[in-house]
Parts: sequence; structure tokens; C-alpha cells
Amino acid sequence: MSRSDLPIGVFDSGVGGLTVLEALRRRLPAEDLLYLGDTARVPYGTRSPDTVRRYALRVGGHLARRGVKALVVACNTATTWALETLEEAAAPLGIPVIGVIRPGVARALECSPSGRIAVIGTEGTVRGGAYGRALLGARPDATITQLPCPLFVSLAEEGWTEGPVASLVAERYLSPLRLSENPPDTLILGCTHYPLLADVIAEVLPGVRLVDSATATADAVAERLADDGLLRRSTRPGRARFLVTDNLERFQIVGERFLGVIPSPAEVVDLSDEDDRALPHRLAAGA
Ligand code: DGL
Repeated sequence: MSRSDLPIGVFDSGVGGLTVLEALRRRLPAEDLLYLGDTARVPYGTRSPDTVRRYALRVGGHLARRGVKALVVACNTATTWALETLEEAAAPLGIPVIGVIRPGVARALECSPSGRIAVIGTEGTVRGGAYGRALLGARPDATITQLPCPLFVSLAEEGWTEGPVASLVAERYLSPLRLSENPPDTLILGCTHYPLLADVIAEVLPGVRLVDSATATADAVAERLADDGLLRRSTRPGRARFLVTDNLERFQIVGERFLGVIPSPAEVVDLSDEDDRALPHRLAAGA
């Protein structure tokens, strides 16, 4: 099997990364996708940077050992804290690592005439400030507001993406942006779950452009694979397979809300024995 026939590895703390998987499926229909949701350790959004890095190395390492041609970090919190560590670990294997932040930032900069950009995400993503740094690095005169909206994750998983509860929560989190002296013209949905709430978010922030990093990430993956000569050339449509570290039933029930179909075929993998510290060496040794 040639390298370009290997699947693209995609991982997230749980179900949220399915928004990225869906965007990849649309953008790259010939590619096989291997998704890993770390449902035994979700959520990542409230954990410390070191813990997120350890978890990300463990799941990324597992996918690398199974054989993937690229690794997509389909989680904003893991991209915030672990992208560089993963890039270092995967470099000896020649596996490109693509996170969701750089593509989302590039898309937001294209969308925003005024440079007034807001980012919403988990507590960890906002605390880490990676979006803000990347935006200001590219456009130093930008005005950036970063806001955690943790309840959006539960609403999306519960399927409460419209109606009075979702509207009330969106209004409570986001009306300060609308009422501020310098309201943003662009809002980055900096969490895998938030695209499901795009309609209620748009109601609270009329006229503000919403940037969904899932589609921007899928475009970045397509570009990177083309540059590296790794696009799969086959007439057979790509297939997706799913791995979770716990509670497959819940993953499939909630996952259907994200994907529109039940994520299948899916199986549970136990990563509790896999080392998450010496990973670069183990990867390099092909252990
Ligand atoms: N996938 C996470 C993110 O995009 C949200 C869920 C979690 O906190 O683990 O940041």
C-alpha cells in the first residue's frame, strides 16, 4: 500500500471533532478517515495544559501507530495546548499535523474588513490565547475579544441547538459583544461544538460573519496533502471508521446529531496502558 492510500487520522476529545470530519468528507470524498474520540477523558476544555498535552500525545500516537498519512487535531483545546508538541513528535515519521486554529484565523482575516474579531471557545482555548496571538501576529492593528462559552458544549450534545434555552444562553454570553463600543464584524466559532449553534448565535449577533474553522481546516488539509503528493487517487469513495476510548453507545447517539448519520463502523479502544510521555521515542522507534 502506498502512503497516499493510508487514512487521514482525525482526533478530538469526543464527538465535537465530527464537525471537522464531516467537512473533510465533503472536501476530500476520496479519502479514508480514521477518527478517534477520546470519550474516556472528555472534556479537554477545562483541563490543565499539561494534561491536554499528555492526552493528545496518547491519542495522536495511537493513530500514528495504526498508520495514518496525516494527523488532524480536530479539537480547539488540543490545538491550543498540544499542536507544537504533536508536530515535534510526528516530524520524525514525516506525518504532517494540522490543527484547527491557523485555518480558522486565516479565514477570519479574509472575512473581516475592520479587523474587529471575536473568538469564542472553551475555557482552555480562551485561556491559552492561541487564536488571539495568531490573529495579532498577522494583523497587529486588529481588535480581538476572546470569550469562553462553556455551556454551548452541553447544549450541542443535548441537541438543544434552537428554542428558548439555547437563545437565552446565547444572548447571555454574546450580547456584550453586540452592545460593546467596538462590536466585532467577525466571530470565530473556536470550538468544535459551536457550528451546531450557528443559527442562535447569528440571531444574537445580526450582521456578524461567523467563521467555522471546520471547513477552513478541511481546505488546509486538502492543500497540505496536495503539496506533499499525498492525495488518494482512487475511484472508490473514501470510508470513515471511528474509535472511541469509552461509551460507544453515547458516542453514536450524540454523534448522530453532529454527523446526521450514526458514526459507524465504530469500536472501543483502551488506551489506558499506552505511554503518553516518551511518545516521540516510541513513535520514532515504530513501537
Ligand atoms: N472539542 C473541544 C474543543 O473544540 C470541546 C469539548 C471539550 O471541552 O473537550 O475545544
